[in-house]
Amino acid sequence: MLTGKRVLLVISGGIAAFKALDLIRRLRAEGCTVRCVMTAAAGEFVTPLSVAALSAQPVYQDIFSLKDESEMGHIQLSREADLVVVAPATANIIAKMAAGIADDLASTTLLATDKPILIAPAMNVRMWHHAATQRNIDTLRGDGVRIVGPARGELADGESGEGRLVEPADLVTAIAAALSEIGGTTPRALTGRRALVTSGPTHEPIDPVRYIANRSSGRQGHAIAAALARLGAETILVSGPTDLPDPPGVTVRAVENARAMLAACEAALPVDVAVCAAAVADWRVAAETETKIKKSGAPPQLTLIENPDILATLSRHPDHRPALVVGFAAETDAVAQNAAAKRVRKGCDWIVANSVAAGATFGADDNTVSIIDAAGQEDWPRLSKAEVADRLAVRIANSLGRPS
Ligand code: C5P
Repeated sequence: MLTGKRVLLVISGGIAAFKALDLIRRLRAEGCTVRCVMTAAAGEFVTPLSVAALSAQPVYQDIFSLKDESEMGHIQLSREADLVVVAPATANIIAKMAAGIADDLASTTLLATDKPILIAPAMNVRMWHHAATQRNIDTLRGDGVRIVGPARGELADGESGEGRLVEPADLVTAIAAALSEIGGTTPRALTGRRALVTSGPTHEPIDPVRYIANRSSGRQGHAIAAALARLGAETILVSGPTDLPDPPGVTVRAVENARAMLAACEAALPVDVAVCAAAVADWRVAAETETKIKKSGAPPQLTLIENPDILATLSRHPDHRPALVVGFAAETDAVAQNAAAKRVRKGCDWIVANSVAAGATFGADDNTVSIIDAAGQEDWPRLSKAEVADRLAVRIANSLGRPS
């Protein structure tokens, strides 16, 4: 996907710096050349030796190092890349970038570059929400810097909230999206098309504080929305609660439960393609109480009733049936047979079937899927969720053909 692309990765000094190692590995696996600059603080979290070994390139740290400057000066370093990525980007480097401060190799390189920059902020939640950081982020956005994340979740310091570095797999997706926008070389086969994607779990309320949920991470659905948008589709992502950042270039409608998900999907119609990747709860509590159920007395008996089936509703929509409807099937056994039967039962065109027997798919980076359509079954090898998304987006583009 990224063959021949050159990324200059600036690693600044946060606890998330260790994730840069995984990012380097993934970028190289995609065929990307990765050259790294580390701040002095980054060197306290990961060793330059590890970074050099994984990137298979010298690592640059010191602007006053004769060796670094003679091998490759900071101006050349900043120019010899298709994209400059700062991951993790600490509040400090963000502030320096916003102010144009150049007091070490990393900040000097960032000031000297004429290449597009993508940053992935990672810091304590309070530092992220601090007025100064938010002001600096606005400044950088105004300067044309692309920003991915931060994600929400548990932070290294024990607090939780917004501030996590987005996962390396999602960073690769964001980097690929930025490179394809910049290069403008990828044929945008879905330009003029509208796409709807559902993603994530749903939370079905029991009372104002409790709910029934499932283990879906939303990673596959979000990656599909990103891939469709990259191919030029006007993409609406209707997502249940997840920790994932909004995919670049996608309109996101956040919902809590199945009924709200269906309403948001219907509001998005008409679309050319609908991909239902959400793990919608099959049942909801019949009588959600308006006040918190008290612990005193006997445990409550919850009566469950069926939720609307969004995939089946879209597949049989009387007025705006999308030209192509794609469903997912997570099966534990007889995957192909069950998925084929599900395709007919739901009335959709394709089913993307995966086995969750080993519990490997939820929240994982990889996925092994088969595509079942009217013509039969196509087995794909084990791929990253981003690759599954890319292949699926291309298959969708081929199936829809050119807009009339
Ligand atoms: O019936 P099952 O949940 O196995 O079907 C999975 C497929 O149906 C997925 O594509 C899922 O997004 C979709 N679905 C839905 N609404 C539901 C249940 C499942 O759209 N209420």
